[in-house]
Amino acid sequence: MSKLSGSKKAAQFTESVIREMTRLNTFHGGVNLAQGFPDFPAPLDVKEAACAAIRADVNQYAVTWGAPPLREAVARQFTQRFGVPIVPDEQVTICCGSTEAMIATMMAIVDPGDEVVVFEPFYENYGPDAILSGATPRYVTLHEPDWTFDPDELAAAFNEKTKAVIINTPNNPTGKVFTREELEAIAVLCRKWDAIAISDEIYEHIIYDGHQHIPIATIDGMSDRTVTINSLSKAYGVTGWRVGWTISPPSLTVAIRKVHDFLTVGAAAPLQEAGVVALGLPDTYYTKMASDYQRRRDTLMAILEQHHFRCFTPRGAYYIMADISQFAFSDDVAFARYLVKDVGVAAVPGSSFYKDPAKGRTKLRFCFCKRDETLEEADRRLAKLMLPAAERVH
Ligand SMILES: Cc1ncc(COP(=O)(O)O)c(C=O)c1O
Repeated sequence: MSKLSGSKKAAQFTESVIREMTRLNTFHGGVNLAQGFPDFPAPLDVKEAACAAIRADVNQYAVTWGAPPLREAVARQFTQRFGVPIVPDEQVTICCGSTEAMIATMMAIVDPGDEVVVFEPFYENYGPDAILSGATPRYVTLHEPDWTFDPDELAAAFNEKTKAVIINTPNNPTGKVFTREELEAIAVLCRKWDAIAISDEIYEHIIYDGHQHIPIATIDGMSDRTVTINSLSKAYGVTGWRVGWTISPPSLTVAIRKVHDFLTVGAAAPLQEAGVVALGLPDTYYTKMASDYQRRRDTLMAILEQHHFRCFTPRGAYYIMADISQFAFSDDVAFARYLVKDVGVAAVPGSSFYKDPAKGRTKLRFCFCKRDETLEEADRRLAKLMLPAAERVH
């Protein structure tokens, strides 16, 4: 076989379906409810801080594992919110978004043959992350409508080869917020099998109806075996800045920093300065953000339900999983393509969130981190989607 081909590793996963939907959406001039990025402005003070940093010539490499003021701000915020002491010099590593934070963590802690437990439906990066780091993923299903897991199924996924479990709370795509009892059940297994929890908490501030975000690092005995992953992307609406971080026990930090160094050297220096301002925003910023998102959630749920989708109410994050079985499409991907091409609204096929695509065939994910006008436009376009019309296309 010619050597002018990609690696076996790269052949094991496909292009991101979410990014593909965004591309199709641009091509067809649709309303993008596929990719989770806000179409409204980021906080002014944070943008001003970035501009000021560039003008002040903070334009060269920052310290590889992160500018000290940002690492301190990350540690301070986590300790203030959750009461867990964090030493920035030993525990915080700034990366290029939580995307890099996750792959750097996986490559730093996993050896080929190690197993990593992944809840599904999952954020689509975790599969390729596992492949690239040589891990064997073990999937545990979150069952609708509440997206709970069966404790026996979870226990069966752990064994002596388990190196880590990936948790994402609040969860993309389901909006599930893991409860204390659930996190305790996971913690028991981590302690039993000496496994690490890698917890993606980038939606921690986007939470509804009085639900509470609990980091697994706060559960008894877990701060020493948890890597918490977060970023500026979602909390401050700056997904294009690519600034994220890990908070890890010192025993894992050295390895994470080494991998991070050779993957990217470091995150954008002026944007790290602006990150300090972002993390210093008052509590009222977060309260308003969450209530604004809750309003958008209610708006999009009402729109989708009016257009015959059955929605699972998200408790956090900014996505709605919707059931599409009533449209009589056998294939969620064909439905998503039809929706973007003929109706003009992009969503993500449910199958892209499951190891076994069959489990997601009756679902689509819509995001609502959008202006009211955008959601209203989606509403207008979805009017084309009448049940009989959808059946005709099929
Ligand atoms: C659960 C989850 N983790 C990570 C990311 C990527 O975040 P970042 O922009 O920080 O790389 C996303 C983006 O949608 C996400 O939903």
